[in-house]
Amino acid sequence: MTQATYTANPFFAARMKRDATRKEACDRPVYARLPLAPKNANPVPGLTSLYHHHREGDYGDRGYPGNCGGNLIKDLLTYFRPGIVFDPMSGSGTCADVCREMNIPCLSFDIHKGFDACDPEHFADSEVFDFIWAHPAYWRMKLYADDPRDLSRSPTLEQFLRRYRQFIRNSARALKPGGKLAVLMGDYNDREEGFIPLTYHTKRLAFESGLRQCCTDIIRFSHGASSSRKVYRSSFIPGLHDTCTVFEKPHTTRKGA
Ligand SMILES: C[S@@+](CC[C@H](N)C(=O)[O-])C[C@H]1O[C@@H](n2cnc3c(N)ncnc32)[C@H](O)[C@@H]1O
Repeated sequence: MTQATYTANPFFAARMKRDATRKEACDRPVYARLPLAPKNANPVPGLTSLYHHHREGDYGDRGYPGNCGGNLIKDLLTYFRPGIVFDPMSGSGTCADVCREMNIPCLSFDIHKGFDACDPEHFADSEVFDFIWAHPAYWRMKLYADDPRDLSRSPTLEQFLRRYRQFIRNSARALKPGGKLAVLMGDYNDREEGFIPLTYHTKRLAFESGLRQCCTDIIRFSHGASSSRKVYRSSFIPGLHDTCTVFEKPHTTRKGA
């Protein structure tokens, strides 16, 4: 067997008593049979409640902590066809890159640029955007800026949720009626607090802010997550996805928005 054969097929690498490299292990396909999606007028057939793209496209910087890849954003923008887009927690600028490619006007800011998405004074005036893409910190799973206003630096869960609520309120206010807020969020197992259902809190806070969910949850498979490559001594059920929930601002705003 040649070097080329067992490099191309990591299963042969195991037979040759050679560990697959990290890259090979990451690229190794594992197939699951997905349910058949009904045909419909959706212009993006791959956009279903189970979302998988093992290559993330050339958007943003894959090396940025928490980078989300751009394909889901692209598919959502193709589906909802918004006028003006806002990304208030832009990280490496993934959403802005997608918008540039699609010729959609987009504003994007981050705490690294001094913009605090949880501060109503920093946020845009009311009814400006058609679509807000939000990929917030999953509390302290990863730390981002050396700035106490960074959501990931919230010292307690209660403080995180208070600031997260304000962020969602700001977003609800900044949307035009009929505008969409798409939030990509993951549940998080905290060393001290245990399992924290951040996707539940996202919905709860969005509903409290007068938004309504406008389509199915989109379960995004977390291909390439750094945690997938770690080895843990403890026993737990691995979470291999995060959830994108799309909310809509009703044309007549409910109480609390
Ligand atoms: C999960 S990352 C976003 C990654 C991005 N989607 C990408 O693909 O590169 C979350 C981002 O939220 C930013 N952030 C945290 N707290 C913030 C705040 N209060 N205001 C604005 N941005 C904040 C962090 O700096 C970080 O870049």
